[in-house]
Amino acid sequence: MFSKTAFVSSVLAAVASGQQAGTLTTETHPSLPAQSCTAAGSCSTVATKVTMDANWRWLHTTSGYTNCYTGNEWNTTICPDGATCAANCALDGADYAATYGVTASGNALTLKFVTDGSYSKNIGSRMYLLASDTKYQMFKLVNQEFSFDVDVSKLPCGLNGALYLIEMDEDGGMAKYPTNKAGAKYGTGYCDTQCPHDIKFIDGEANVEGWAPSTNDANAGSGTYGSCCNEMDIWEANSISAAYTPHVCSVDGQTRCSGTDCGDGDERHDGICDKDGCDFNSYRMGDKTFYGPGGTVDTASKFTVVTQFIGSPLNEIKRFYVQGGKVIANSAVSITGVDAVNSITDKYCNQQKTAFGDTNSFEKLGGLAAMGASLSRGMVLALSVWDDHAVNMLWLDSSYPTDKDASTPGVARGTCATTSGVPSDIEASEGDSQVTYSNIKWGALNSTFAAS
Ligand SMILES: *[C@@H]1O[C@H](CO)[C@@H](O)[C@H](O)[C@H]1NC(C)=O
Ligand SMILES: *[C@@H]1O[C@H](CO)[C@@H](O)[C@H](O)[C@H]1NC(C)=O
Repeated sequence: MFSKTAFVSSVLAAVASGQQAGTLTTETHPSLPAQSCTAAGSCSTVATKVTMDANWRWLHTTSGYTNCYTGNEWNTTICPDGATCAANCALDGADYAATYGVTASGNALTLKFVTDGSYSKNIGSRMYLLASDTKYQMFKLVNQEFSFDVDVSKLPCGLNGALYLIEMDEDGGMAKYPTNKAGAKYGTGYCDTQCPHDIKFIDGEANVEGWAPSTNDANAGSGTYGSCCNEMDIWEANSISAAYTPHVCSVDGQTRCSGTDCGDGDERHDGICDKDGCDFNSYRMGDKTFYGPGGTVDTASKFTVVTQFIGSPLNEIKRFYVQGGKVIANSAVSITGVDAVNSITDKYCNQQKTAFGDTNSFEKLGGLAAMGASLSRGMVLALSVWDDHAVNMLWLDSSYPTDKDASTPGVARGTCATTSGVPSDIEASEGDSQVTYSNIKWGALNSTFAAS
C-alpha cells in the first residue's frame, strides 16, 4: 500500500462528482483471459481483465493534485471525517507496470514484490478479476472446480503469493453505498476474514476515525473499522510452503465491523469471522518432502493447482497438482489423531483442531456448509503478493507460534528460519521476488484438467 508524494502532469484535473473516481491517469485494465469449462477438453475463453485494489491507488483531492493520504497518514484538513473525505478525494487510475510492477501477457499475470517507481517504492499488490470494466467476475463454485498454473520459484521465505476468493460485492459496493463513486473499476470493496483495519474506505466512507499509522509499515495504518467477509484461500504459498484454507463468518457479504466483532488481539476467537480457518499445509500435516524445491511438487518450476468444491451443501474440498504432464494427488495426513486423508472435510477440521490444540472457530461459525453457502452466493477472485508486518509469514513457512517447541504437533509449517520473513529485511534483499499466475480455468468437476 502506498501513496504518491508528488505528481506532475500536464493533464487538467477533470473533476468527478465519495470515494470519487479520478482521471489524471486513465484507468486501463490489463487483459487476463480465462477459460470456463463444461467437460474435459470443452472450454471457452472468457474475456476477463484485472484491476488494482483501491488501497494501493493514488488518492488525491477531486479538484487537483494534493494527496488525501501520504505514507501512512490522512490529511485531516481534507479528511476531517469519513464522509467528508469520501466527497473530497478521488482514487486515480493505475500505471500497472511502472508504478506497481504488475504485467499481463497472454493468460499470465506477473506480480513483482518491490517496484521502484518514479514517485514511490511500491510493495506488493492485490488484483481482482473483472468480468467487465465495472464488475468483478463472480465465482459460484459449489460442485465445481478451479484451476490455475503458478510459478513460485522466485518467492522466498516470508513472501506469500495468494490466490483466493472473498465475498465482496460484484460492483465493489457502489449500489449499497452511493457515496462510493469509484466501484469495482477502481478495486473498491475489499473484505476478508481477518476483518482488516487498514482498508482506507469501507462502506463508502474513509476509515479516518481512530486512524493510527503502523509502527513498522511506512504505507499502512489502521482505523476504527474493519471490513469482514467469508474467504476461501485456494492458494497461499511461496517456494517453501503452501496452504489452502476455508475461513467463514457469521455474516453474509461484505460487513463493516467495530469493537469485539472485529476479533482483534485477545478477542481473536470472539469476532464474527474465523481468522484461523481450517488449513491444509502438507508440511504441517506431516509430509515434509511433498512440496518445495525438488519435492514431489517441485517448486523450482511451474505447476497446475486444481481445487474441487464437492457436494451441495459443500462437504469436501479436494486438491490435485499437475506437473510435467503428471497428475499428483495431494499428500496424505500423517499426524496422530487425524485420519490419513488428503482433502478438507468437517471431520478433518475437527480432528486437526483437537490434535493441534487449536480453538475451533471454523466449526463454531458454520464449517464447510457456511463456506459452501458463500460460494453459492458468489465470490470475487483476488491475486496478490504480500509480506507480513504482523508475524513475518511464519504461520505459513516456519515454526509458529515461536514460543512453542517445533516438535509440538501443528507448530512446524515449513523449513524457513523463525528469524526469516522480516519485511524490512526482505524488502531490501529480496525485492526482485515475483509470482506468476496463469491459465485460470473453472467449471464442472474434472473439466479443467486430465483427472487420470
Ligand atoms: C492538506 O490539505 C490542505 C488543503 O488542501 C493543504 O493546504 C495542505 O498543504 C495539506 N497538507 C499536507 C501535509 O499536504
Ligand atoms: C473425477 O475424477 C476422479 C478420478 O478419475 C473420479 O474418482 C471422480 O468420480 C470424478 N468426478 C466426477 C464428478 O466426475
